[in-house]
Amino acid sequence: MTAKLLDGKKTALFYTSKIKEEIEQLKTKYKKTPKLSVIMVGDDPASSIYVRNKEKKCKELAIESEIIKLNKDTKEDDLINLITKLNKDNKTTGILVQLPLPKQINETKIINTISPQKDVDGFTIINKGLLSTNNNPPLISCTPLGIIKLLEKYKIKIEGKHCVILGRSQIVGKPIAELLLQRNATITICHKKTKNLKSITKTADILISAMGTKANQINSSYIKDKAIVIDVAMIRNKENKLTGDIDFKSVSKKASYITPVPGGIGPMTIAMLMYNTLEAFKNQNEIHKV
Ligand code: GUN
Repeated sequence: MTAKLLDGKKTALFYTSKIKEEIEQLKTKYKKTPKLSVIMVGDDPASSIYVRNKEKKCKELAIESEIIKLNKDTKEDDLINLITKLNKDNKTTGILVQLPLPKQINETKIINTISPQKDVDGFTIINKGLLSTNNNPPLISCTPLGIIKLLEKYKIKIEGKHCVILGRSQIVGKPIAELLLQRNATITICHKKTKNLKSITKTADILISAMGTKANQINSSYIKDKAIVIDVAMIRNKENKLTGDIDFKSVSKKASYITPVPGGIGPMTIAMLMYNTLEAFKNQNEIHKV
């Protein structure tokens, strides 16, 4: 068979156009707009691209944005002071600290300095704790949320499915497991030390791959017939082309649905960041409906 495409680009556009419309209505009614402050420490090339894309999307949706670029030698205390200032600033409704941070800075400490109400990444211990105790926080990590919204848009049933997740990161693996579990899926999380990986992936009704270590390493021999395959990874191959964990060519012949890279989860992640930025703004202004 040939898999149907889970088109993240098109689906992201569906969500962002709704967000744009709502922001315009809110602006007319309340004379206020969300403001996202993005902090980047150092000049990691991948981070620079991600931050630029976030800024561009904010502009498209009339979300005010501010990119704060700090020197790679920035001290932890100085970063904490900046976040504390932004937490108190009424105009700033969303704060995002681009990861990774330089070695001298404790990432956990920095993330948890962000006010949970402004934590548009959903990375603070408060927001993660709320998620894992089924008290859904208003702000959920963007990539996992994007995966759920993409599955929903294509009316893919999650309940009762065996979902296999490759990768146990704080950003993707763990929160997507929580969201799928809440929707009554059976979950297996695989990682570097997992034995007989293929024997597990071959039982997956939904396979979510978020390893990002080696391009196209999951070929059709890892896939169950008619599986739904989601590729979260973004890897530059030898030809400098963006690819994922999944060998799209062979897997798309066996799966029922598959995400492309690029054009799959990437655009959904940015769309959900915009969604969270709007949610954070509405919550801080006690706006529940336009
Ligand atoms: N670095 C890579 N992905 C992300 C993300 O989703 N949020 C932040 N803050 N940093 C990242």
